Amino acid sequence: MYRSHNCGELRAAHINTEVTLSGWVQRIKDLGAINWVILRDRYGLTQLVFDQERSEAALLERSQKLGREFVIQIKGTVIERESKNNAMATGDIEILVSELTILNEAQTPPFTIEDQTDGGEDLRMKYRYLDIRRNPVKESLIFRHKVTQEVRNYLSKDGFIEVETPYLIKSTPEGARDFVVPSRMNEGQFYALPQSPQTFKQLLMVGGMDKYFQIVKCFRDEDLRADRQPEFTQIDCEMAFIEQEDILNAFEGLTRHLLKEINGVEIEKFPRMLYDDAMRLYGNDKPDIRFGMAFGELNAVAQHKDFKVFNSAELVVGIAVPGGNTYTRKDIDKLISWVKRPQVGALGMVYCRCNEDGSYKSSVDKFYNQDDLAKWADVTGAKPGDLICVLSGDTNKVRAQLSALRMELAERLELRKPDEFAPLWVMDFPLLEWDEDTERYHAMHHPFTAPKPGQLELLKTDPGAVKANAYDLVLNGNEIGGGSIRIHDKATQALMFDYLGFTPEEAKAQFGFLMDAFQYGAPPHGGLAFGLDRLVAILGGQETIRDFIAFPKNNSGRDVMIDAPAPIDDAQLEELSLKLNVKS
Ligand code: AMO
Repeated sequence: MYRSHNCGELRAAHINTEVTLSGWVQRIKDLGAINWVILRDRYGLTQLVFDQERSEAALLERSQKLGREFVIQIKGTVIERESKNNAMATGDIEILVSELTILNEAQTPPFTIEDQTDGGEDLRMKYRYLDIRRNPVKESLIFRHKVTQEVRNYLSKDGFIEVETPYLIKSTPEGARDFVVPSRMNEGQFYALPQSPQTFKQLLMVGGMDKYFQIVKCFRDEDLRADRQPEFTQIDCEMAFIEQEDILNAFEGLTRHLLKEINGVEIEKFPRMLYDDAMRLYGNDKPDIRFGMAFGELNAVAQHKDFKVFNSAELVVGIAVPGGNTYTRKDIDKLISWVKRPQVGALGMVYCRCNEDGSYKSSVDKFYNQDDLAKWADVTGAKPGDLICVLSGDTNKVRAQLSALRMELAERLELRKPDEFAPLWVMDFPLLEWDEDTERYHAMHHPFTAPKPGQLELLKTDPGAVKANAYDLVLNGNEIGGGSIRIHDKATQALMFDYLGFTPEEAKAQFGFLMDAFQYGAPPHGGLAFGLDRLVAILGGQETIRDFIAFPKNNSGRDVMIDAPAPIDDAQLEELSLKLNVKS
């Protein structure tokens, strides 16, 4: 028996009990005549004591040879601690050790394994197994388990069946690049790893599964950010014989359940916002609505006044920064430099101070009088004491720039509180989006998404204006899920491929299986997929998903611990018929 108790459970009530514990040596405080060792396991910390008076000399001596992260087993008696430690759950007691077994020695770890570590990101990732011993990472993984467990229970109770779909599939266009896997048995041919199980879950609906879910790995070869990993996990869901409203209700129910069970937060009904309004009011399709600072469009009140910059702009738009009038000239100059950084890309920023006495002072006073500026304040909702920041330019660009500024200021003003939760449905996304590089329309969600009823005809005349039965679930400014009602008849699906620039042959070669299936009685269906990593991180009060993933990749898509990706040897290349391709 390695242990009778774990390192987190002993209390004053256990005093005089004989116990056996196993774990890692976290800290050693050796005063010569007395040696304290803190023992750690997943459950907590327990203090061990070896001393001259009460322990055998040989045992004390052996304890003094222990090093950090040694794996040991001890037997001993629970005794009352002289100086109690309230910060430790087991702080009332310590173990007077009578037997010490070293189960495994350890080299000195490359960083301290404590809540606050001296290890940088790269080092922690290289020795991730040591990082996982630290509380913050360990707790995040346990937290993820809790969320996943709640999801499984909730959906299972609601009649959803978990079905696994294959990982070795065929390339499907869903926005990102595919990771491909060469096939040894089929020379020169490749599988693709799924970007999502989209087509399979639709086929499960044709197969009559009715309510499907899967907690599933997805793979996308795209540029990485704090909220993106090349392999990530979805809670993928699909339902048949439903309308959009049924889906929204089903997954709002799941999210509400998680917020209640995991965070103790009750939210009655999730607000809904049209995509067009989200873009107009927040310049963003995933607005953080925990705070205000909504956009005020100023064209009507700021154009035609002699200020050329505004007159020539497609959009003049501003936000009111609460309390921003306290900013010094230097602060504002810094803000202007911030919006001019290439990552944001604004050409400049106009500002207007809203003084406490109701007067205004702007950077463009030459062109605008007090009445004009009062209108700016009215449109942006600025109050005395605020600062109005105004950007101008092409609508799409300027919206993105002001959105970046809004988020940055909210961060600085600490308006993005991690323990506050503001879910939001963003509805009626455009069906198509124009791609500058390829100069054609792409499906904004994916090519299986249905246009809103009655809008199919509009595809011919004004494709960019067609709205889809597509929705995203946004939580605290992050897209945590997205889905749509699907096309379920062959003719519409063929038409859609046609609009997306596929020839009938290409459509048949890539998606013949799906269109064939639609001929055998496909029910109306739709669904949604949550990004589990993002959902877990946000419920856990963070936006970086890496710490909620046991073995994540770095920003270059590398696993620095196992050192992947890596070259493969010539024999393996040859077996996969890849060597010739590489040479030629
Ligand atoms: P979508 O592409 O919107 O939809 O993906 C669903 C959700 O997955 C999360 N997500 C990611 N998380 C981490 N790293 C990534 N690289 C990453 N990419 C996406 C997001 C996103 O909202 N098949 C459709 C769903 C459907 O229509 O039912 C799909 O995959 O949180």
